[in-house]
Amino acid sequence: MKVVIIIPTYNEKGNVERLITILEEEIFPTIKNHDMNILVADDNSPDGTADEVKKLMNKWKNLDINVGEKHGLGAAYVRAMTYAIDKMGAEVMFEMDADLSHDPKKVPIFLQKIDEGYDFVIGTRYSQGGSIPSNWGINRKMFSIFGNLLVRFILLKFAIHDWTGGFRALKKEVFLKEKNELTAFRGYTFQVSFLNKVVRDGFKVAEVPIHFTDRTLGRSKIAPKEYIIDLLKYIITASIKEKLLGPFGKFLVVGGIGFILQAVILRVLVEVFNVNPSVSNLLGAVVAIFSNYNLNNLWTFRSEKFVGFGQYLWKMLNFYATSATGVIFIQTGIIFLGDNLIGRKFYFLYFIVGTGVLLIYNFTMYRFVIWRKRPH
Ligand code: GDD
Ligand code: MN
Repeated sequence: MKVVIIIPTYNEKGNVERLITILEEEIFPTIKNHDMNILVADDNSPDGTADEVKKLMNKWKNLDINVGEKHGLGAAYVRAMTYAIDKMGAEVMFEMDADLSHDPKKVPIFLQKIDEGYDFVIGTRYSQGGSIPSNWGINRKMFSIFGNLLVRFILLKFAIHDWTGGFRALKKEVFLKEKNELTAFRGYTFQVSFLNKVVRDGFKVAEVPIHFTDRTLGRSKIAPKEYIIDLLKYIITASIKEKLLGPFGKFLVVGGIGFILQAVILRVLVEVFNVNPSVSNLLGAVVAIFSNYNLNNLWTFRSEKFVGFGQYLWKMLNFYATSATGVIFIQTGIIFLGDNLIGRKFYFLYFIVGTGVLLIYNFTMYRFVIWRKRPH
């Protein structure tokens, strides 16, 4: 396959020459089954990085450069990946720092994962066999470790250990699929937002442990304060969107509709038809649960929708049983406990807590029992 290693540079004179030389002379000759190329993505570095690369282009025909304006690391990658695909015919692309923090010896291992069928391979510093530099100051260490934990806990995605790292390999299809959504976060946060979309869309992701080496020349371009603010902005909004627009949000909407239905039926039966309020409430509940069941089946969990009539009826019975169990044992149970253990004064609080726990119970039962994911 045609592989393009993209190296973003901003004032990396010296570093980029060293990295290119190692790749060309030591690494590429060991890779027989791929056509290896390098693309430097420079943002008009004032130190003359581009001139250094252009000189090397006379020596190495598989080396190219793409120069543009400086809009941050993410913007440089999006621009360079577009160039690599359109102008160089790239099928696989690498992200790699210019400052030798990423060990070029890992390149063949990443490619092996691609050959095995993975779409997106990330170098990870935070799992067995990976590491961050021991000579990093405590601030930089904390920053990196906490940054990653923050991402995992706010997005509630634990399978991936290193979200922020910048040593990766990906198939061009992955970039083409996500490209249009990669414009909002153009700095270092790009790494997290890109990976999150890749996970969302079900691409196959592999992790390769890497040792991150501190640079010896030049300095880091990360502005920690801006980065952390930008990162928080992204993970918090992404998390809210994913959770509320996903099945849980739909489940809440469906439940809200059920609640309104039950309330309307109760009032109409009592006030227009003079029916006893308890009987009216039960009738309302039966209709509300019916509506909840069908809306959840057709909308919230539509990918697991029931098609056969027998299964539809059987699952509806399960649904009624689950709903009744939840209301009787969980919601009412919590009110009962509060009333007896703490006192009547806070009865409405028990109702709120009981309803909260009930929602979690219901959602869990629906998601993992009634509409359990089946192989398609
Ligand atoms: N073209 C371009 N434009 N290149 C940039 C820019 C930019 O605005 N900002 C940084 N770079 C280049 C640098 O020249 C370097 O080659 C690479 O991107 C990484 O930048 P560093 O400044 O060396 O970042 P770091 O070592 O502090 O950060 C590392 O860890 C981060 C957090 O885990 C990198 O691996 C990042 O990719 C990673 O997100
Ligand atoms: Mn660096």
